[in-house]
Amino acid sequence: MNQNELKASVGNEAAKYVENDMIVGLGSGTTVSYMVDSLGKRVKSEGLNIVCISTSNRTADQARCLGMNVTSIDKVGHVDLTIDGADEISSDLNGIKGGGAALLWEKIVATNSDRNMWIVDESKIVDHLGAFPLPVEVIPFGSQHVFDKFKKMGFQPSFRTNVASALVKTDSNNLIIDLHLGKISAPKELAELLNDTVGVVEHGLFLDVVDKVIVGKQDGIETIDR
Ligand code: A5P
Repeated sequence: MNQNELKASVGNEAAKYVENDMIVGLGSGTTVSYMVDSLGKRVKSEGLNIVCISTSNRTADQARCLGMNVTSIDKVGHVDLTIDGADEISSDLNGIKGGGAALLWEKIVATNSDRNMWIVDESKIVDHLGAFPLPVEVIPFGSQHVFDKFKKMGFQPSFRTNVASALVKTDSNNLIIDLHLGKISAPKELAELLNDTVGVVEHGLFLDVVDKVIVGKQDGIETIDR
């Protein structure tokens, strides 16, 4: 199977965990888009009654096109289950997210969810986090100073740009600075440092968040519980 087929396999598998009357958090990214397609089919064919909370405008658009009921997180008391992708997952089930620049809404939805499930192909499973550049969402005002601080700390920052070399804007109109760390040996300490940096809105370290990981592998699907 190629990588897209592995992503589709975990997307289809994850959609099976959704039950009638659930409030479901929809993550972002290519793997999640397969899950949303699959869930949309269940809504149509089974009349599955769910309310969806989206972690990005793009996923919300996809879900609405499929006839799913998408509402604001502020209109619900909690989310039953959120299904999201990840860029890296370490053996202790911590992760890096934000490759699609949706980390802020993803973390808000995740931290208001009773259960969090991540769906990935096997390339995302790593021994240590950090080979994938760590996304940090910053407000535009003063962002060059945040960038300079990161540079002084040896974090090898880069402002994220798109194919037209324009700065990437998040759904909250913020910027992304990617940190090229290589290996993150102390994720909790790094998360605290980033949380304490004025101008940082959120970072892509998702620590102690996920309950279940579904991994698409060449020899089948593996489910890992925390
Ligand atoms: C979006 O900002 C991310 O957190 C995605 O969930 C993550 O990048 C995984 O995306 P893919 O499924 O496209 O690899």
